[in-house]
Amino acid sequence: MNKIIVNGGKKLNGEVSVQGAKNSVLPILVATLLVNGVSVIHNCPYISDVDATIKILRYLGCKVTREEHTVIVDSSTMCRNDVPDSLMREMRSSIVFLGGIIGRMGKAVLSTPGGCEIGLRPIDLHLSAMEQFGAKVTTENGFIICSAEEKGLCGTRIVLSFPSVGATENIILASTLAKGTTIISNAAREPEIIDLADFLNGCGAKIYGAGDSTIVIEGVSRLNSTEHTVIPDRIVAATYLIATAMTGGKVTFKDVIPSHLGPIIQPLRESGCLVFVKEKNVTISSQKPLKRIKMIRTMPHPGFPTDVQAQMMALTTIADGTSVFIENIFESRYKHIGELLRFGAKIHAEGRMAVVEGVKALNGANVKATDLRGGSAMLLAGLSAKGKTEISEIYHIDRGYEEPEKVLEYLGADIKRMKVNEETTTE
Ligand code: EPZ
Repeated sequence: MNKIIVNGGKKLNGEVSVQGAKNSVLPILVATLLVNGVSVIHNCPYISDVDATIKILRYLGCKVTREEHTVIVDSSTMCRNDVPDSLMREMRSSIVFLGGIIGRMGKAVLSTPGGCEIGLRPIDLHLSAMEQFGAKVTTENGFIICSAEEKGLCGTRIVLSFPSVGATENIILASTLAKGTTIISNAAREPEIIDLADFLNGCGAKIYGAGDSTIVIEGVSRLNSTEHTVIPDRIVAATYLIATAMTGGKVTFKDVIPSHLGPIIQPLRESGCLVFVKEKNVTISSQKPLKRIKMIRTMPHPGFPTDVQAQMMALTTIADGTSVFIENIFESRYKHIGELLRFGAKIHAEGRMAVVEGVKALNGANVKATDLRGGSAMLLAGLSAKGKTEISEIYHIDRGYEEPEKVLEYLGADIKRMKVNEETTTE
């Protein structure tokens, strides 16, 4: 198993661009199933969730090739409509294959996706949407069978009780080639929804209102091949912005979409950082000591993203004063707190609330990545801590961050990836 070793205390400086968005490239790769031809997707990051998605596309019969950050999918050879348990379990978000497969084949058979480290991850909204399209949904020996083979999927009005990102994506995927018009009320407004709609509209789909709470999809009979460039990853950008804030220094993030970072920039300024936005670049410089952030409430976009909660919590552990977090999206997204305490952080959590009392400095520790974003918070704490930090179970981090140790080393961090059997003492 690999580990990441960090010797903390180095400032981050320089300029860097940000990888393509994991939560955009995954549904877009699924959407290539609807094209029934060749799709060329640029700016795909080298992360294990993309590898897992490509594995499922190939299992379904698609020809998939990769040329650096470009993935080419020929879905004309698709010949299956099922995803086995082994592949479903490799990636929590594989549920988004439901809409892509049933949208193309009229029937989808998926093994029930398990929960994960941050919550039970129910899929009731996904399945009730499929039934509203006229599909028959049954479960058999741990498999979900969604079938609309008799009459095909019929467009309908769907009101989501929660603006679920994945459910919104599955409804868009299932309705793109359905008969008639679908209207989604209380749709998710995340930028990744807009990117998915942009890709599909580039193929000839008719999707209106993505990014708003009401989305209208007029079903079309077929889609054409297209090329698409995935948007930059706002969560990865936020993670490295916070890394700069915690270590001091000045970093410019190039070719990002500043409007996607609005919910992050505000609390960073509250912590005393100077953040400048110029066209597609965001520059942050940190004024230590950082100030506490009164309250971070995670909310659906455009509120503060739950995917940055752990990272912002790491920042507040060394801020001057007490900061309060409310995690409104997932029921158990505080697993990283136990590991932050090992650095000497002072945090008390009760249900969805966590109270952080800032300390002068963290001390390096041996910790593990508890989940994808909790793992990235370990990187941030290690960068800022005095002394050496060893992070294990970094496969969680590799699901969403492309070579994070290389990006951070390029900016000035003393950080390296090590295979456990190659471990050498760094003292
Ligand atoms: C997407 O997950 C993201 N994943 C998550 O990012 C992100 O945290 C989440 O949206 C919220 O923004 C991808 O895009 C691949 P949801 P998703 O459906 O679609 C409840 C990361 O770190 N819910 O919006 O699974 C659910 O339990 C990952 O990159 C139901 O109750 O999120 C949760 O409490 C982690 N029933 C809330 O809604 C359902 O049928 C939000 O879930 C579906 C969801």
